[in-house]
Amino acid sequence: MADHEHDVLVIGSGAAGLSLALHLAERGRIAVLSKGPIHAGSTYHAQGGISAVLDETRDSIESHIRDTLEAGAGLCDERAVRFTVEHGREAIEWLLNLGVPFTRDEDSDQLHLTREGGHSHRRVAHSADATGRAIECTLVENARSHDSIDLYENHLAVDLVSSRKLGQAGPNRCLGAYVLDLEQQRVEVFRARFVVLATGGASKAYLYTSNPDGTTGDGIAMGWRAGCRVANMEFMQFHPTCLYHPKAKSFLISEAVRGEGGRLLLPDGTPFMHRFDPRGELAPRDIVARAIDHEMKRLGAEYVYLDISHKPADFITSHFPTIYRRCLELGYDMTREPLPVVPAAHYTCGGVMTDLAAHTDVDGLYAVGEVAHTGLHGANRMASNSLLECIVFARAAAGDIAQRLESGAGSIDCSIPPWDEQQVTDSDEMVVVSHNWQELRRFMWDYVGIVRTDKRLQRAMNRIQLLLREIDEYYSNFRITSDLIELRNLAKVAELIIRSAMSRKESRGLHYTLDYPERNPELDGVNTELAPPLYGD
Ligand code: FAD
Ligand code: SIN
Repeated sequence: MADHEHDVLVIGSGAAGLSLALHLAERGRIAVLSKGPIHAGSTYHAQGGISAVLDETRDSIESHIRDTLEAGAGLCDERAVRFTVEHGREAIEWLLNLGVPFTRDEDSDQLHLTREGGHSHRRVAHSADATGRAIECTLVENARSHDSIDLYENHLAVDLVSSRKLGQAGPNRCLGAYVLDLEQQRVEVFRARFVVLATGGASKAYLYTSNPDGTTGDGIAMGWRAGCRVANMEFMQFHPTCLYHPKAKSFLISEAVRGEGGRLLLPDGTPFMHRFDPRGELAPRDIVARAIDHEMKRLGAEYVYLDISHKPADFITSHFPTIYRRCLELGYDMTREPLPVVPAAHYTCGGVMTDLAAHTDVDGLYAVGEVAHTGLHGANRMASNSLLECIVFARAAAGDIAQRLESGAGSIDCSIPPWDEQQVTDSDEMVVVSHNWQELRRFMWDYVGIVRTDKRLQRAMNRIQLLLREIDEYYSNFRITSDLIELRNLAKVAELIIRSAMSRKESRGLHYTLDYPERNPELDGVNTELAPPLYGD
């Protein structure tokens, strides 16, 4: 017997997971897991906003599509782009109806729209500079008001249970998950007719990241082990401007600061972005991050500056109250001085392959949000398109699941064996786990970062193979802990990133290699797809 039975198991409580649960609240019993406190994902930290065409006198759907395709550098799936952009207004209206306090224009009742890199118009709805917090808190509040939604905090999904893993004949089908209750330290069985991966991205694979601690690619690794293909893992996005400060843990300085007039300066105060792109500070992120990296390496500088102090102080404090306060705590007054900034890993453009209804390759398993590769982002995600993707695809997946629940599909007639701990003991050397964590994140930063070469990638591949062997051995012999589970997942995802990067013999979007510095037109539209051992018939 399972410990928990639900119609739908949603793994993840960010914008993607909670939106999906809310859409299904009237349709069945839903479990939502979070491996930490409910707000622990990236959503809570999102700053700039959520893009959508809301001012059709100046902006248009076609323009948003064009900008997204342009940023995606020839690898977006145009159907996914159109689908997402066309549902933009509906997504914002849904959030407004739930109660998200978006910022409004001072002189009209319209939403205030800001601008970010790659967008040719103002089309980013926001809640001052803490849009993610406003969205996450509103979603949580709404989810808590539904009896049909069970929220499980501090519950870490360890692995999916699929029919093929249980040795059953027929098409591979997802039946539930093994989940570690972190308070009880016990692995429980969650059985569900449908399972949704909404676990966010994998930026923790890098030493410096804007992301919170849990972004360890768990959903990508679990999906892979269950038999899902992944795509475009080489396209890890580095945000150009995180605060350079030993205590700030890569605190993000929103792209909206540049959108509202912020300038990037060299340490001696000289502007430089115009030398790299005619759009200057508002070029897409890959270009800006690479330009900063180039200048830092050229000058041996530890950071560059982001300066908006030429704007009136009250403009800065009203548009960016959170950033202003945090920087002040750390000793910088952005109304009077420039901020030292560096790039940091920010967003996972690749992920578990899905279609427009968020189906993965495994029957009954869906993937939504940053964990998924929908085709929207191509080789480089445009700012503020991610939250939009979460909301739009959560709705699409929920619609599909609702229909299947109604038709009686997905009932499970087999039992899932309990988690087997008979062969393992408590670890005697946790230092192996902490050492491997640090080593992995360091070599990913040094060898698989903003600028790559064949030689660096091969070095990273040699090291990751060694780590994977050690981690597997450790996993087989010792009782699991959250650190071990996350490390195991991060190492698998790191390997997928390196493999994908090695296979792309060109530079495109976020993947830049000195060995093939040009874009190869023959590779337009060619995504990097990897298939796992359990994939297929
Ligand atoms: P998340 O919000 O990351 O949620 C993941 C959830 O999965 C969490 O609840 C976590 O606990 C849970 N989870 C993970 N693994 C497990 C497991 N094994 N078991 C159980 N639970 C698990 N995008 C924009 O569009 N606009 C912005 O302005 C913007 N600003 C950003 C600023 C920052 C600092 C960061 C880090 C990101 C920003 N992004 C922005 C990106 C965007 O926030 C994320 O892509 C998006 O929020 C991802 O949502 P999600 O629901 O897919 O995942
Ligand atoms: C930011 O505010 O700069 C982050 C926006 C994003 O990642 O989409």
